[in-house]
Amino acid sequence: MDAAIAEACRRSARKHGTPLYLYDLPRLEADAAALTSAFPAPWLRLYALKANPLPKLTGRLPGLGFGATAVSAGELDLARRAGFRNASIALEGIGKTDHELWLAVEAAETPDPLLWVSLESADEAAQLAAFARLAGVAVDVLVRLNPGVQPETLGGLAVGAADSKFGVLADELPTVIEAGGGPDGPLRWRGLHLHVGSQLGAVDAWRSAFRVGLRLLSLQRAALPDFDTLDIGSGFPVAYGVDGSVPEPRRFAEAAADEVAALPADARPARLAVEPGRAIVAACGWLVGRVLHVRERVWADGLSRLIVLDTGMTELIRPALYGAEHPIVALTSHGRPAPADGPVSLARIDGPICESTDRLGTADLPPLVRDDLVAIGVAGAYGSAMSMTYNGRPRPAEVGWDGRRLTVLRRRGTEASLA
Ligand SMILES: Cc1ncc(COP(=O)(O)O)c(C=O)c1O
Repeated sequence: MDAAIAEACRRSARKHGTPLYLYDLPRLEADAAALTSAFPAPWLRLYALKANPLPKLTGRLPGLGFGATAVSAGELDLARRAGFRNASIALEGIGKTDHELWLAVEAAETPDPLLWVSLESADEAAQLAAFARLAGVAVDVLVRLNPGVQPETLGGLAVGAADSKFGVLADELPTVIEAGGGPDGPLRWRGLHLHVGSQLGAVDAWRSAFRVGLRLLSLQRAALPDFDTLDIGSGFPVAYGVDGSVPEPRRFAEAAADEVAALPADARPARLAVEPGRAIVAACGWLVGRVLHVRERVWADGLSRLIVLDTGMTELIRPALYGAEHPIVALTSHGRPAPADGPVSLARIDGPICESTDRLGTADLPPLVRDDLVAIGVAGAYGSAMSMTYNGRPRPAEVGWDGRRLTVLRRRGTEASLA
């Protein structure tokens, strides 16, 4: 961990207490720039808001050339608060309520309609078409396709596998289009949306899904002249520091370019989009917790030290939810800044929640006592976004660090707000 960030974490813990999220803002901008350099215009880069929807954080992205994807009315609101224009927001999600579909129709009545709605089913297509007819507007739509591939990732993140609940199968596509009013109805059929899975360990499944999408897109073009867009979702992994090296976004972009180049010019899509989430916000985020107690004992897993922090699955559920691993470092040891080269020993780090799955991981750590500070790294994505108030725990404070100053991006929740 960079010494300046460690100091920023200690300073913000002193000022704002723990648990606390600290975001390294220059890192966020560098990671966003890396995505832009891999997928420059005319690629559309849509930030997947679900990874971290905090408006004071994501508000930096419209100015960096990103649109957004929102999966609910709540995320749509958060996207607008962050400064994303409707025309750069795609509305997606595995199941949309009437209210959410109606919001897309309402936006279509203004000069700033949504970029598109990604449809998950024939039911959704029929309902959106009915609303659009009622309002007398046209709505741009993509159809979410299940590519039926074998993504190289954790089972819980493999949404592009054939048996997942996400997307329609290729042979269900005509039924969806029919249900939505066909080529002459109120829905403008603009193309396909895919997402193979997250945190991909290799490019192969992504490339296969991209190829499936390209092929299906060009097959539909004869009947649907506007069917010109392929949104390939995300999958771009981040180095959590515990699982070896991961393919860079550039490798995915090269695979896409090869696949497009293999097609005749008139079969190529007019628009291509990606939806990175974690690749932009994961690495910039640190979750800072405080040691509550240390148990020295021989545990069944052979470890002899268990450290219980004041933060756990309520702030970062990924380890408990699907066995994700994060780097864990000590910020202080016996109340002083932890030395980079002092003695360490392996410890298990657990949270304070009344669940035995409330574990954050294992790490080599220096001697720790009550009140020492610990940071969990690469925690900016699906951390705060998935946090909860179980066990009567208010939301943590969230702080941005610009290299010099600390700014509160969201205040700590209050106990009163739990009622
Ligand atoms: C449709 C879609 N797009 C994009 C993402 C973002 O994935 P990641 O944060 O791994 O980049 C997800 C994650 O679940 C998703 O479901």
